Amino acid sequence: MKGIDITLNGHQLSIDTGPERNLLDILREAGCASVKFSDEHGQGGADLILLDGHPVSAVTLYARDADGRSIETLEGFRHRPDMRRLMDIFLREGAVQCGYCTPGMLIALEGLRRRQQKPSVEEIDEAMAPVLCRCTGYVKTLRAAYVFFGLEAPRKTEASQKHRVLGHDTLRVDGRSLVEGRPVFTEDRAMDKLSHLKILKSPLPHARIREIDTGKARALEGVIDVITWKDVPRRAFTSAGQGYPEPSPYDTFILDQKLRHVGDRVALVLAESAAIAERACELIEVSYEALPFVIDEREAAEGKILLHDGPRPEDPRAHELFWPADPSKNLAAETELEIGDFEKGLEASEHVFEWEYRSHQVQPASIEPPVVTTWLDADGRLNIESATQVPFHVRRVVGRLLDMPVSQIRARKPRIGGGFGGKQEILGEELCALATQRTGRAVRLRYTREEEFIAARGRHPQRIRFRAGFDKTHKLQALEMDILENTGANGAHALTVMSVSAQKGLSLYPAKNLRHRGRAVYSNMVPGGAYRGYGAPQAFWALESFMDEVAGELGVDPIELRLKNVVRVGEPLEVLE
Ligand code: FES
Repeated sequence: MKGIDITLNGHQLSIDTGPERNLLDILREAGCASVKFSDEHGQGGADLILLDGHPVSAVTLYARDADGRSIETLEGFRHRPDMRRLMDIFLREGAVQCGYCTPGMLIALEGLRRRQQKPSVEEIDEAMAPVLCRCTGYVKTLRAAYVFFGLEAPRKTEASQKHRVLGHDTLRVDGRSLVEGRPVFTEDRAMDKLSHLKILKSPLPHARIREIDTGKARALEGVIDVITWKDVPRRAFTSAGQGYPEPSPYDTFILDQKLRHVGDRVALVLAESAAIAERACELIEVSYEALPFVIDEREAAEGKILLHDGPRPEDPRAHELFWPADPSKNLAAETELEIGDFEKGLEASEHVFEWEYRSHQVQPASIEPPVVTTWLDADGRLNIESATQVPFHVRRVVGRLLDMPVSQIRARKPRIGGGFGGKQEILGEELCALATQRTGRAVRLRYTREEEFIAARGRHPQRIRFRAGFDKTHKLQALEMDILENTGANGAHALTVMSVSAQKGLSLYPAKNLRHRGRAVYSNMVPGGAYRGYGAPQAFWALESFMDEVAGELGVDPIELRLKNVVRVGEPLEVLE
């Protein structure tokens, strides 16, 4: 091991480090929880530190390059009065939401303060630009910075006499620990002898594993375990974090011989370090049988290329589980609805319009990527700690997959660095739990940003076709909404997201005659999942685009058209029942 000498927050330190370790890992091992991983390219900004007084990304800096330099993190100056004032302003202005990005922002501002005591708005904007935030929309964070540098007056609200809380500014109860960069997130838990899990991911969108040879990977020093589909029972589940019985099809496996999207799981490697696990993944020899693949939902709906064509796995509780609507047609889920008589309503209409819209896939991209830690406690109970929105579902699903009573599993969620629905999913807890069960080790899996994009969950793309009839007065008489949802390789949340889209798309401008048909089809895309709005954004974007186009065709004001047709207080919304 090679050593480096650094000054960390004013203390001289000699640290053993390998030639390729990054500074972020070294700092976290030294107890600096305020410096956080947001991505492997240093573009998220949660990993900002001061290097000789200048803000730099710690994840992109080799530790060896910090030899002889001075490094400062929030831990080094969070008690300083001016920094406490900045933290107080962040809290008071509501600039701290999940708080994962906050230490990075404070570092960026501290770096600016050292260069420039009275910066301009532009200089502040530029200094904070490297730190991404997914929660605040930047308005409050920038405002907090302007207030700190005296460019704006602090926000004041009139105190309400009537209420104790409403009408007053209140500070987040957990805000202080967040703004100070205390260890509150999953990856902040320091553990002795932590092992690291890495996933060998499919390079192909659709393939079958012919052969897999893990010999060289197992022989690598530091490798603890290598797991392939041959080592785990083929037990179907859904990764969707939903109440039991889940309304998402059981079409997912811990590991499978068939691979259904780029990024699907080929094998798991557990090693003493993440770097060793990654190297071992490269040593696994896989012979793939490439299969034809389908990306477009219209082609997928033709059912010529099937994703879930294998035999249903045997499961004693199969009768309780929700299967894909029709795997022989690539259908994960199907919905239908008719209220009134759509065709008659259309016939009676003066004006008939029809347009189709397609929304694309979007990733939640929380600044904290998915991360899981599992270990056995002194009583042999399995502990799962993860950045999840659904710890209670994690416990139940993992228990079933690993044949463990839930009383033997403790699932916890610490603070999460943004979820946005993307963490309403079992996204690695089952893998770490399996590795802990097999080896007895404490295990951590943290997705890289690239992995999040190819192996986590995103918003379902939808192709939405609206057909509508309006009478002479431009009042809506009949409305049809046809949804073709691309659920990707698995059907997590496929039915429920599509159902919400239909509910929203048909209820904002209600007509007496409504018709809906929805199909969620499998494709070799990255699977869809829960995401903010849960089907509503796709529906409203298509619907409002449709209303604009109708208004254009009718030659009327788009707002007037909406006001004439929008749902009013007291009107029944049958589509929601
Ligand atoms: Fe900025 Fe959540 S508060 S990422």
